Amino acid sequence: MALLQLIYVSDLVGRDEAQLASILESAVRHNREDGITGMLLYSGGNFLQVLEGAPASVKATYQRICDDPRHRNTMVLLEQDVDERHFGDWSMGYRQLGPEDVARFPEQAPYFQYGFRNDALRAKPGEALDLLEMFCKGML
Ligand SMILES: Cc1cc2nc3c(=O)[nH]c(=O)nc-3n(C[C@H](O)[C@H](O)[C@H](O)COP(=O)(O)O)c2cc1C
Repeated sequence: MALLQLIYVSDLVGRDEAQLASILESAVRHNREDGITGMLLYSGGNFLQVLEGAPASVKATYQRICDDPRHRNTMVLLEQDVDERHFGDWSMGYRQLGPEDVARFPEQAPYFQYGFRNDALRAKPGEALDLLEMFCKGML
């Protein structure tokens, strides 16, 4: 079955971190029903998320996410067909990145230390996928 993988970045409105738990709750609940898997990272007011699943489901989910007033400035970094899921264990894995991650991953830290570096990740979207996979593996 053809699978679509989509990676985007966005900004949490008002850096209102009290919203994070309910965002994750609705993501997991819907994704279980829609056959979507992925990973959501939060750092310094920004999100980096990967969605994967049947192309129509991923597109419909991303459209709904774009309409969500809790964040803004959504920007797609990567949209590609994949043969298999990279995040198949997670309806939506989640990690909030902090100083301990900067210390553990000094090479990657410039991409996430002060929120996600949209411009750098857009230029090298493979790095965005690597970051998501790196933190996802750390959860297993
Ligand atoms: C950063 C962010 C990531 C989200 N990720 C997902 C997701 O993976 N899947 C999903 O269905 N909704 C996701 N949502 C939530 C949707 O935007 C939307 O609020 C939700 O699907 C509405 O459903 P509900 O009213 O039943 O909670 C996300 C929202 C934000 C702000």
